[in-house]
Amino acid sequence: MTDHENLLVFGGTGQTGQHFTRLALAAGHRVRVLARTPSKLTLADDDLEVVQGSIDDDLDLDALLDGTDAVVMMLGDAAAQRERKVNTALVRRLVPAMRRSGTRRLLYQAGGLSAAPGTRLPAVLRVVRGTLARGYVGQHEDNEAVMRYLDEEARDLEWMVHRAGIGSDGPSKGELQRSSRRISIGTFVDCASYTLRALADDTAVHTCDGSSYRRG
Ligand SMILES: NC(=O)c1ccc[n+]([C@@H]2O[C@H](COP(=O)([O-])OP(=O)(O)OC[C@H]3O[C@@H](n4cnc5c(N)ncnc54)[C@H](OP(=O)(O)O)[C@@H]3O)[C@@H](O)[C@H]2O)c1
Repeated sequence: MTDHENLLVFGGTGQTGQHFTRLALAAGHRVRVLARTPSKLTLADDDLEVVQGSIDDDLDLDALLDGTDAVVMMLGDAAAQRERKVNTALVRRLVPAMRRSGTRRLLYQAGGLSAAPGTRLPAVLRVVRGTLARGYVGQHEDNEAVMRYLDEEARDLEWMVHRAGIGSDGPSKGELQRSSRRISIGTFVDCASYTLRALADDTAVHTCDGSSYRRG
């Protein structure tokens, strides 16, 4: 990735997405956001384009991807995901559209309570997922289905998954780094900053890692 890429963002009005969109614009990227409610994005920038729509719509993905270098997905709707794997349904339509348009790179934000393909969460996280976080089980199952699909059917694309651990929308607590072993409880702004850096990290391609704060 160069400094001036065209990014297509899903979830740009969300808690991570708002920070990500602001940071990406500040870094010199052009950002197209698909948003159900465009007014939620309070940013004004010549390099920001907001397209009104829902991932439940029959989206014109070819038009959304036109001119796009990379796609970033920070999508979540726990109630909808309890009923249906809405993100997986979108990714299954998006990947063929990315192939058609020649868009190579995709970053998908999942959660630390979503297990990477072929792995099991540590026992303590399995307990958290089944108790404190049980309202989000559908979201994690959807995220896991997305990871499986990318791993099994989309290795021709440069996808990467960030299994984020987020605790609050407080100020920055430091710099998150990719980690296959540790997941820190970060803030949304740190997570968004990590996501922007990860997008340009070729070594993150085909990984489903978490992120942790630098020790010390
Ligand atoms: N929140 C956490 O503590 C946490 C922790 C770890 C990982 N994660 C993961 O990070 C990802 C994003 O989380 P987040 O908390 O940043 O998101 P969020 O604040 O819940 O926002 C979700 C975003 O998805 C958008 N969205 C949902 N359904 C949509 C639809 N049908 N069409 C278009 N857009 C839709 C929302 O748009 P609207 O503004 O229109 O609702 C919003 O922009 C999720 O995969 C989640 O599992 C979250």
